[in-house]
Amino acid sequence: EKGTYDHYMIKEINDQPGAMRKIISQYQDENEQLVIDDAIIEQLKETDRIYIVAAGTSYHAGLIGKEYFEKWAKIPTEVHVASEFVYNTPMLSEKPLFVFISQSGETADSRAVLVEVKKLGYPTLTITNVAGSTLSREADETLLLYAGPEIAVASTKAYTAQIAVLSITAQVAARELGQEIDIDLMQELAVVTNAINAVINDASIIENIVREYLETTRNAFFIGRTLDYYVGLEGALKLKEISYIQAEGFAGGELKHGTIALIEKGTPVFSLITQDKVNLNTRGNAQEVEARGAKVCTISMAGLDEEGDDYVIPKVHPMLSPLVSVIVYQFVAYYAALHRGNDVDKPRNLAKSVTVE
Ligand code: M6R
Repeated sequence: EKGTYDHYMIKEINDQPGAMRKIISQYQDENEQLVIDDAIIEQLKETDRIYIVAAGTSYHAGLIGKEYFEKWAKIPTEVHVASEFVYNTPMLSEKPLFVFISQSGETADSRAVLVEVKKLGYPTLTITNVAGSTLSREADETLLLYAGPEIAVASTKAYTAQIAVLSITAQVAARELGQEIDIDLMQELAVVTNAINAVINDASIIENIVREYLETTRNAFFIGRTLDYYVGLEGALKLKEISYIQAEGFAGGELKHGTIALIEKGTPVFSLITQDKVNLNTRGNAQEVEARGAKVCTISMAGLDEEGDDYVIPKVHPMLSPLVSVIVYQFVAYYAALHRGNDVDKPRNLAKSVTVE
């Protein structure tokens, strides 16, 4: 139930600290060791390449998951849009592991891939919010998100739960494969939980950002590099889906290869800065669009912030910053849709689970 909240979406945004705490408690034992089922550990130890298959927001979470599997566990990982994978299957490694990420566990595009790879006898793992869902039943193994029911069509807490569970899975894989561990993940996820809370408490500041940048615009851009690029993709999808503002997320470095032609006086560009090594590059890209009239809204992480930034998220481990920065974009989409008088929870033309191919 949405209780005192006006919409499910705003309730679900606010559910995220609780969901993080639940995940932290579900995935550790009494010695505070990270735990997942032995059968899944075996899958991770056996594979030579992970193929993540998903759609929409779950695909965007998969992009972050790839970073974890490759940087921490050193397992090569590919991320694929389910609807493409079915008809254009990439060359597979010798021992692939298929990981399906799906809030609902019912997405037909993802299921179509699952059915095919099962026929080929490959191991499969579903990461889902819904125990007993089709993708969970049909895959060999399941990891649950523990985010609680997500009702709003726009996915919010499932995305952060997916990233958290992917981070835990990759850390377990790293440990089991004997890779060097340089992060106390549970401790860092607790820091993230507090940071999410802090952003939630700043909702009115983000609503003002929407007033300043999005009230009348017909389009908007989201730039960033590395993890911030992936969060930009999610920010753009969220905004499109419920505000109907045409939005595009892309890598900051790609601007000059085409998109910059679209920048006009007043075009809003959201620029996300949480990664030290690309901080100056992204800021440079922001200056390029600003020089052409864009209104740049800069969201940075404490420690990398500069005077004039529009909003600063608390400092968290840089690999986990998507869990916090995305909250800003969730609020941006929410208020943009609300101010336009749209049906926030049930946007036009969309269904919560897409059960047709
Ligand atoms: O249930 P799933 O995670 O498989 O759904 C996948 C997409 O349909 C879903 O994430 C969609 O993109 C959301 N409505 C985005 O907010």
